[in-house]
Amino acid sequence: MQKLGLDYLDLYLIHQPMNNYYGAWQAMEELFAAGKIRAIGVCNFYPDRLTDLCMNARITPMVNQVELLPFFAQTGAIENMKSLNVQPEAWGPMAEGKHGIFIHPVLTEIGQKYGKTAAQVALRWNAQRGVVIIPKSTHRERMEENFNIWDFALSEEDMTAIAALDLGRSEIIDRSTAETAGRTRKENLRMRLLLGSDAVNFVRKEPESRLDELKAWEQVSIRSDF
Ligand SMILES: NC(=O)c1ccc[n+]([C@@H]2O[C@H](COP(=O)([O-])OP(=O)(O)OC[C@H]3O[C@@H](n4cnc5c(N)ncnc54)[C@H](OP(=O)(O)O)[C@@H]3O)[C@@H](O)[C@H]2O)c1
Repeated sequence: MQKLGLDYLDLYLIHQPMNNYYGAWQAMEELFAAGKIRAIGVCNFYPDRLTDLCMNARITPMVNQVELLPFFAQTGAIENMKSLNVQPEAWGPMAEGKHGIFIHPVLTEIGQKYGKTAAQVALRWNAQRGVVIIPKSTHRERMEENFNIWDFALSEEDMTAIAALDLGRSEIIDRSTAETAGRTRKENLRMRLLLGSDAVNFVRKEPESRLDELKAWEQVSIRSDF
């Protein structure tokens, strides 16, 4: 927060249920109690992890940010979040541009009834089922387009037609695999290296074998989004 020049944060989330996330959660509970963070939450906690945390933590996560979009609707996970009083939030609400979402025939046809784009229909569908959406764009006109979804409402029939697009799986990342867990570990190490001297000192205390593994990995695969 010192580096950001801020006295408090509005919202702080754990990225995924990996490694010592209970320790991280307890530290966040303390920062919340001290007024340093106004709301605390998690990301990518599937129903089993979320339920476990809610049953054992002092403070229930206020938000769970997971992949939620027409092609991966996760209706059961949303029901679980609501039953635990956790606000669902969507990352990748426009499939990160995959699956031809911006020209998808079902979304486009529904949009034509309301003078809206396929992107706006996808965003409105999530909002209308009680999901907070954080679409990302680097273009001003698209940002405006993405904000402009509050002057129309999808019918029950539209909602059902969009729900039928669900594939029941992610086309972006499968977080349940050993391969993903291994890659996450390496990404976490790399992030700590990037985060400054305190983080570097922390990494220096890691067993040498892990740093060697990190260095080897960095030479072959540096993900551009980290
Ligand atoms: N917690 C997590 O594990 C996690 C994982 C992934 C992402 N996230 C976060 O979730 C947020 C959004 O997700 P995302 O960026 O992955 O995917 P997204 O919002 O589903 O899609 C972003 C893509 O859609 C394009 N786009 C946006 N609005 C558009 C429009 N109206 N028409 C046409 N194209 C449009 C963007 O291109 P341009 O930028 O070129 O406009 C970009 O390529 C980000 O803040 C990200 O950091 C969180």
